[in-house]
Parts: sequence; C-alpha cells; structure tokens
Amino acid sequence: MVRENWGSRAGFILAAIGSAVGLGNIWRFPGVAYENGGGAFLVPYLVALTTAGIPLLIMEFTIGRRYKGSAPVAFRRMNKNAEVIGWWQVAISIVIAVYYAAIIAWAGWYGYFSITQQWGEDPNAFLMGDFLQASDGFGDFGTWLPGIGIAMIAVWAFTLLVIGAGVKKGIETTSKVFIPLLLVMFAVLVVQALTLDGAADGLNSFFSPDWEAVREPGVWLAAYGQIFFSLSVGFGIMVTYASYLKRKSDITTSAFTVGFANSSFEILAGIGVFAALGFIAFESGVPIADQAYEGVGLAFIAFPTIINTLPYLAGLFGVLFFASLVVAGWTSMVSIVQVPVAAMEDRFGWSRIKATVVVGGAMAVVSLILLPTASGLMFLDVTDYFINQYGIAVAAPVSIAVVVWALWKWKALRDDANATSTFKVGPIWFVCLGVVTPIMLAGILYFNIRDLLTAEADSALYGYNQHQAFGWAIAIGALAFGVIMALLLRRKEVPAIESEEDEEIREEAAR
Ligand code: ALA
Repeated sequence: MVRENWGSRAGFILAAIGSAVGLGNIWRFPGVAYENGGGAFLVPYLVALTTAGIPLLIMEFTIGRRYKGSAPVAFRRMNKNAEVIGWWQVAISIVIAVYYAAIIAWAGWYGYFSITQQWGEDPNAFLMGDFLQASDGFGDFGTWLPGIGIAMIAVWAFTLLVIGAGVKKGIETTSKVFIPLLLVMFAVLVVQALTLDGAADGLNSFFSPDWEAVREPGVWLAAYGQIFFSLSVGFGIMVTYASYLKRKSDITTSAFTVGFANSSFEILAGIGVFAALGFIAFESGVPIADQAYEGVGLAFIAFPTIINTLPYLAGLFGVLFFASLVVAGWTSMVSIVQVPVAAMEDRFGWSRIKATVVVGGAMAVVSLILLPTASGLMFLDVTDYFINQYGIAVAAPVSIAVVVWALWKWKALRDDANATSTFKVGPIWFVCLGVVTPIMLAGILYFNIRDLLTAEADSALYGYNQHQAFGWAIAIGALAFGVIMALLLRRKEVPAIESEEDEEIREEAAR
C-alpha cells in the first residue's frame, strides 16, 4: 500500500496549525495562565516555546518525514528499542481524545445557549448544576447526561468521518476550510472584547509579570505542559502528520510557521479572555485575581457572565466564541485520534477504514461512557492535569533524551532537516533540544513532585486523595501501555520504507 501524501505544502501547514490550535489555545491556556499568576505565566511560557516547543517540533517533523510512519513505527525504524516511546505517545493521545470530545460537545451546547443566554443569572450554578450535574467524586459515572452524550456522538462521528476520508481528502480539505474561518471568527471576537469597558485593566493584569510566581516550579511545569499540549508535540501527532510529507518538503520553516501561528493565536485568546475578565471586574467591582474561576471552567463561566452583561450583540459574541471553540477543537481532535488510528494501520497493516472504525469506535465508546456523567468533570479535570504534567511533560523529554543522547540521532536528523529546508538549524537547536529542555524539565519535575509529596494530605484538590491516586494511575497506565505494546511487538518486524529515495534509512533500520 502506497503511503498517502499531503497535497501541498500549504495543506500540510494548515493541517498542522489545525492540530496545534485547539482547545488548548482557547479553553486551556487562559485558564492555566489565570491559575498560574496571569502575567507571571508568560515568561515561562515564552521560554518553553522557544527552547523546547519549536526545537521539539522540528525534531518530530524530521522523524516523521524521515521514517515515514506513525509514532510507534517511526521510532521502531529508528531503533528497535525505541518503539516503546511511540506506543506511550499513542496511549497519551487516546487519553486526551477521550475527554477532549466532551469539551467540544459542551462548547456546541453553549454556542446554542448563547442565543438566548439560557444559562440565566448565575452561569456558575448553571454549568455545575443544571448542565454538568457535577459531583465531587468518582462515584457518579452511573448518571448519564443525554444532552452532552448526544453532542459527543456528533463530535465523534464527524471526527471519524474526516479520518476515514483520508489525509488529503479528509484532514487537508477540512483544515483548508475551517482554519481560515476560525481565524476570522476569532479576530472579530477579540476586537469586540477589546472594546469593552475595563478591557485595558484586564490586559494589564495579563501582561504584568509577577516575579514571585515565576519562582514556583509548578508554574514552570504548567508552562511546559501547556506548550507541548498546545503545539501537539510529545504525544505522537506531529510525527504522524509529518509522516505524510513528501521527501523534499521543507521542515524548519514549516515548524516555525506552525509554532508562531499557534502561540500568536494562544496569546490572542489570552488577550480576548483577559480583556473580558477586565470587563467583569469593571462591572462587578471584584478584581480579576479575586474572581476565583476554576481554571478549566473559565471559558464556560466567565464568558457567559460577560455575555449576560454585554451592552450590544451579546448573542453574536457568544456564538462566535463557542463556535471558535468547536472548530478549533474539532480540527485538533481529528489529529489526536489520527495517532492511534495511523499506528494500527502502519503497525498491523489494517486498512484505514478498519483502523478508524475499530480504534476510533472503541475510543468513542469509552469516552461516551465516562464523560457525559456526573463524575465527568472530575474525570476531565484530573485527567487533563495528570496526562499533561506527568504524561506529555515526561514523555517529551524522554523522547528527546533517547533520540539525542541514547541513539545520538540528532546529527542525522539535523542534516536531514537542513537538506530540504531554507532555514538551517545548527548548534542552538542542539543546545535547546538536547541540553536546556531535558535539564529544565528534570529540575522542574523533581521540585514539583517533591512539593506534591510534601503537601498537606488534604490541602488541595491534587493532594493525597482519590484524585491523586486516579491521576497517577492514568499517567503511569499510559507508560505501562507503551511498555506492554513494545514488548508484545518486539519480534514483529516493521515493513520496509517503500520509496527508492530512502535506501539509506532502510539500511539504517535494518541494522
Ligand atoms: N494542540 C491541541 C490543542 O491545543 C491538542 O488543543
């Protein structure tokens, strides 16, 4: 079977931007920034973007294109012992997709609710009570919420349809339509947010660094976790997408384009949300820092609150915001689900349709059982936190350490990337990727875990309690899945790379 290719360079870049720009930008980033000191967050965020995010994106693009395979196959072709990383990344993608679908579904409903402001006077009570019926623990998976469930079925159906249609006809075509649309919708929204009273105060709080918070390892970990999640690196997506690139495609310019487009969008979202928070502060007299939104609920509480008080075009503002969430989320969801689907296609020779139906279908069922329930929000919150901080933020530096240090592939990858790219990478790339990022993350993780372990048993949501046990089970479970799959497949060779040009890589893989 001949591997599919992207139809054009623009198509690939738009698809990669479609993957990167997602719920992470609009729903997650403002919430994480808000929880981690607002402006304080921008410094670690920009450090993480330039020293870790973009260098890793270049590495993943090059690995994907060079070894022409989804994550497990690409890593296996690089070295027999590296397959485990690919499957670990597949597991992380599966976990994310399971909860990601739910947020898109909520956003769909909230877009509809915006028209008549159906959430009433108290959006917080509406979200937690009427809409999510959120319970505090993990005991309530039995209460299934049909409204959310049906919207999630639609999300899964559209996602699997696009994946089933293929890389070029499905993913590339939808990205070409929806990414420009997203940009226009979001730009209108941010302009509207900036005209609100109090917007300037909101922006001041977003852009004033708080040097106290910058000293906390947790803030740094959140920044790295956010960058990886948001750029779609560290969990197999960009390796998979780049595996459909033609041999001669440019790597580094594409990586910079995607990286900067994604962060520009994210900061734009931060500007929009903080301008809006400034408006709430202006209207209610409660300063932004004291508004006490829970991170991930921010979008679903703060925005309805704003919409309730908007002087004009309130419905339009709501529809634009939530439609942006749906569009951004859906194009990313496609890329996340593509990781396990492509893994089964490449590793087991399944057809695209079979892999989409079996793997995508199984993920959809798990997602539909767990998320539209009273314990769904709890599951989502804890899973999102742990799979980022102790899933992606660990898998990413491990993949770097293996590729750069254990296998010493950085030179081959650098030459490979430079051979077809206008912008050449050199020693700075190596230092950022191979030295700064692993050291930073090792240090941050060490201090963060130490803080977590010495925290008072019941002091915080993520203290020694049920949440923590559950969160660790998810994070460690993802790694265990990777190890088990790699062990099971140890004796099963991967098929050779097909194209003639790849003789050199084929020989390397055979060694
Ligand atoms: N990169 C995707 C996002 O930001 C997963 O949501």
